[in-house]
Amino acid sequence: MQLGFKNIKNNFKVDNNHLIAIDPTQRAWIEVNGNAISNNVRQICSSLKSKCKFMAVVKADGYGHDAKFVSEYAIRGGADQLGVATLQEGIYLRSEGIKIPILILGNVYTKKDLLICFKNNLMPTISSMRECLICNNIGKKYKKSFYLHLKVDTGMSRLGFGIDEFINIFDAINSFQNIYIDGIYSHLATADEDEFLNQESYTNIQKLKFEKLLQDIKITKYPDIKIHLANSAGTFLGKDFHFDMVRVGLSMYGYNPFFNQIVDLKLEPALCLKSKISFIREIEVDTGVSYGRKFISNQKTKLAVISIGYADGICRKLSNNISVIHNGVKYPQVGAITMDQLMINITHSKDIKVGDSVLLLGSDGKESISPLEWANKASTIPWEILCAFKNRLPRVLMN
Ligand SMILES: Cc1ncc(COP(=O)(O)O)c(C=O)c1O
Repeated sequence: MQLGFKNIKNNFKVDNNHLIAIDPTQRAWIEVNGNAISNNVRQICSSLKSKCKFMAVVKADGYGHDAKFVSEYAIRGGADQLGVATLQEGIYLRSEGIKIPILILGNVYTKKDLLICFKNNLMPTISSMRECLICNNIGKKYKKSFYLHLKVDTGMSRLGFGIDEFINIFDAINSFQNIYIDGIYSHLATADEDEFLNQESYTNIQKLKFEKLLQDIKITKYPDIKIHLANSAGTFLGKDFHFDMVRVGLSMYGYNPFFNQIVDLKLEPALCLKSKISFIREIEVDTGVSYGRKFISNQKTKLAVISIGYADGICRKLSNNISVIHNGVKYPQVGAITMDQLMINITHSKDIKVGDSVLLLGSDGKESISPLEWANKASTIPWEILCAFKNRLPRVLMN
């Protein structure tokens, strides 16, 4: 059932001074299946260590799926906290009525932004003493505790206190009256890539460093502080990676995060990318197609023009290298992908007509195409494929 859609700006027209909604499936769109999100969260939760919490990572507009929608369905599936990247993303979810704890995974470091964070009941990720002092002062001023998570760098070299630095100043931070340490965390750099998880693997070394640090700060004295390390890949590496909470993005959306391993759960991709056929033409043999004539017909060829292009977020590098699905059959894309349109070779089709929908990503029950396939072809990762989809594509929200 279709629940609604987003991107009002691009889907309304003025007619007799009335706003009339244009069908969001008029050209190209993303369908998001809320129940798939809930089911994926439920399944992953049931594989976690007992009492382990689940943070649904909904940054970058819920990996392109619509952050508010994903958050609601993740909460239905059992998510305890949400992770966003920016202050704006957090404020947006609060303004949409999301009530559960939200952690900002990126850095918020100015007094002004930390105050906004506090006032919107968002938790910042803290990587320095300076930020702790600001948070404590804000808490003092408003006679409340400022909830936050402390981050430690165990090998990602991005945000986080250095390990020795953290061990030296943890007691001092903990003694601040107006700070509430809701969590301590670190982030894995290679969990999705490590071929084998053994003592020497980088992922294991990061875990050992994290565990040693927790021992050094005598973490067992603070049972309410949530300890977390694992992203999707880390979560599937085993219960000793779960600690008190996992932070799951990609797998909640239905995808295996590993390059070389399978996952034991039946994750369901929540997203389908679809578009309409806007025109059909026949070309003679030896005719070039699209910019640069990167495809030349070797016979009389029937082409369908599809209303989607790189301005919608389809990487141009995929030109001549992907397919689309129509009624359970795959048809090859030919020629350079243009800004708003691309062409497919439908010479062997008997049933395709103008106005038909085709599937570019997702499954129609018979055939499927995954973001991983696109990622391999474009020398990137599925995360980037999903986050590339532009606002011009309406998100059609389904359950
Ligand atoms: C700090 C942090 N935790 C968790 C995640 C979720 O990662 P994944 O999508 O691999 O589950 C991310 C995503 O990049 C992240 O930056």
